[in-house]
Amino acid sequence: MKSPMVSDLAPGQSVQGVFLVQSKEVRQKRTGEPYLSLVVMDRSGDIDAKMWDNVANVMDSFERDSFIRIKGEAQLFQNRLQLTIHNLQPVSDSDVELSDFLPASRRDPQEMFAELEGIIASLRNPHLKALLQRIFSDPEIASKYRQAPAAKGIHHAWLGGLLEHVLSLCSLARFTSQHYPGIDEDLLLTGVILHDIGKITELEYTRSFSYSTEGGLLGHMQIGIRLVAEHLPADFPPKLRNLVEHLILSHHGQLEFGSPKLPVFPEALLLHHLDNLDSKMAAVFASLERDRGTPGQWTGYNAALERSLLDTAKYLADAPARNGAKPPSNAAGKAVKQASAFGQALLSAFDTTKESK
Ligand SMILES: [Fe+2]
Ligand SMILES: [Fe+2]
Repeated sequence: MKSPMVSDLAPGQSVQGVFLVQSKEVRQKRTGEPYLSLVVMDRSGDIDAKMWDNVANVMDSFERDSFIRIKGEAQLFQNRLQLTIHNLQPVSDSDVELSDFLPASRRDPQEMFAELEGIIASLRNPHLKALLQRIFSDPEIASKYRQAPAAKGIHHAWLGGLLEHVLSLCSLARFTSQHYPGIDEDLLLTGVILHDIGKITELEYTRSFSYSTEGGLLGHMQIGIRLVAEHLPADFPPKLRNLVEHLILSHHGQLEFGSPKLPVFPEALLLHHLDNLDSKMAAVFASLERDRGTPGQWTGYNAALERSLLDTAKYLADAPARNGAKPPSNAAGKAVKQASAFGQALLSAFDTTKESK
C-alpha cells in the first residue's frame, strides 16, 4: 500500500509520496509569476495542493490524471488541510498500483448488486419488474452500474457509490411508502433504481472522476431516458412509461437544478426529496469524516452545503472551538463574499451538466 495516504496527513507533516492529479490549474500570482493549484488524491481522499515557486520548470511535465511524486508539507488553511509543494516530478503509470489511487466503497460491489437484484425480484408490478430485469441483464450496464460513483464530488464520490446511494434510497423508499399509504412502492422503487442510471456513462471513472463528453452533452437524466427506451419491453404500457420517464426527468426537483419538469405526482415528489436527503446526509458525513483529524469543533467551509459543520463529538468533548476562525460568521462571510462562486457551486451540485445528485 502506498504511503503516506491522504487520510493520514497531519498539519506540519513533511510529505514525500505519489498522488494522482485530480485537477490542475496554472494561475498567476500578483507579480505575474505562475503558481500551481492542484487537487491530488489517492484511495483515501483528496486534498488541495499549491506549488508557489519554481513552477515554470515543472508545470508542463504532467496533466490531470497523471501520477506525480510530491515533496512538500501539509499545512492548515482555513481549518482545512492543504499541501504546499516544494517540488514535484511525474511518475510513470507502470510504477504505481492503480487500486491505491481510486476511492472505492467499503462494501463489496457484487454483494450490493445482489441486494439490488433481490429488490427488483421482489417487485409485484410485472411490467416494472420486466423493465428493470431487462436493463440489468445487459452485461455492460450491470458492470458499469456496479462500478460507477454517484457523483464526481460532493456525495458518494467513490467506485460503487451509485449502488450505495441507490440501496440507501431503496430502504428510505420502503420506509416512506409504509408511512404514506397512497404511495405505489413499486413505482417509487423503479424511480429510485433508474433515477441516476445515466451516471454510468455521464461520468468517467477509470482514473480520477470527471464528466465524459456524452455526459457533458446530454446529462444523466437524458441518458437515463435513452437507456429506458432501448430496453423497453414491447408490451410495456405507454402511460406507465410516461410515469417512469417523469420520475427520472423530475428527480432534481427544480428547473434551475437541471430538471426539465417539476415532480407532479406523489412518487416523483417523494423521490426528489429522498434523493436530496440521501445526497445531503452523505455529504455531511463525508465532510465530518474528512475533517475529523483537524483541530477544532468545526469542519472547513463546505461550499456545496453553504456552511461549516459542527462535530458534536468534539464539541461535547470540549475541543477548542477552532483555530482563530469563527465558523458562523466565517461561513456567512464567505457566502456573501463569494456569492457568485457559491451560487455556481450550488448550481453545480445539482446541474446535470456539472455536478449532480
Ligand atoms: Fe441525479
Ligand atoms: Fe441521486
